[in-house]
Amino acid sequence: MNVFAICGSLRKESFNLKTLHAAVELAPKDMRFDIYDKLADIPPYNEDVKEKGFPPVVQDLRGRIGKADALLFVTPEYNYSIPGVLKNAIDWASRPPDQPFNGKPAAIMGASTSMLGTARAQYHLRQAFVFLNILPVNRPEVMIAFAQQKFDDAGKLTDENSRKFIGQLLINLESWTKKIV
Ligand code: FNR
Repeated sequence: MNVFAICGSLRKESFNLKTLHAAVELAPKDMRFDIYDKLADIPPYNEDVKEKGFPPVVQDLRGRIGKADALLFVTPEYNYSIPGVLKNAIDWASRPPDQPFNGKPAAIMGASTSMLGTARAQYHLRQAFVFLNILPVNRPEVMIAFAQQKFDDAGKLTDENSRKFIGQLLINLESWTKKIV
């Protein structure tokens, strides 16, 4: 199973990127990840540019989403919502023709330094999924609060509960994907 994974933070020491790495470590053995690392290269969405054709970086993003069996979003929360860079990438990728998100199974995870662990950003993402027809796994919700206390100096997620939830969410993503694709 090929999972396209995208992190909503551009920060080198991002807790969300570290969470994504924990997901790779904790995933079922047949799950392979295509980790997206070009988020910073995507230009701000502009319909005038789109009308001349998708920029190559967006074409690549759309192709990788289209090829994937399932999607994994690992995102911070910015001002109670989805970080602009992630939303911008989703907006570009979502434009017709052949909307690549359509019907894809997905899972969401997030880590934040405050006490709700990206809950609000995750629900905003789920709201966008309705229009995109992305089909998310509902549970468990992986919302890592007080992230600054949950990783060691090497960047490894050390919190046992978070590790357990991540592992379970990916097992659920695998069985959900098999059920609906
Ligand atoms: C934040 N942060 C934050 N945290 C939160 O729980 N709710 C929020 O609404 C916000 N808002 C917010 C806005 C902006 C612009 C920044 C830069 C940060 C704090 C955030 O959780 C923290 O910076 C995380 O460490 C960001 O994730 P990464 O970069 O570590 O993955």
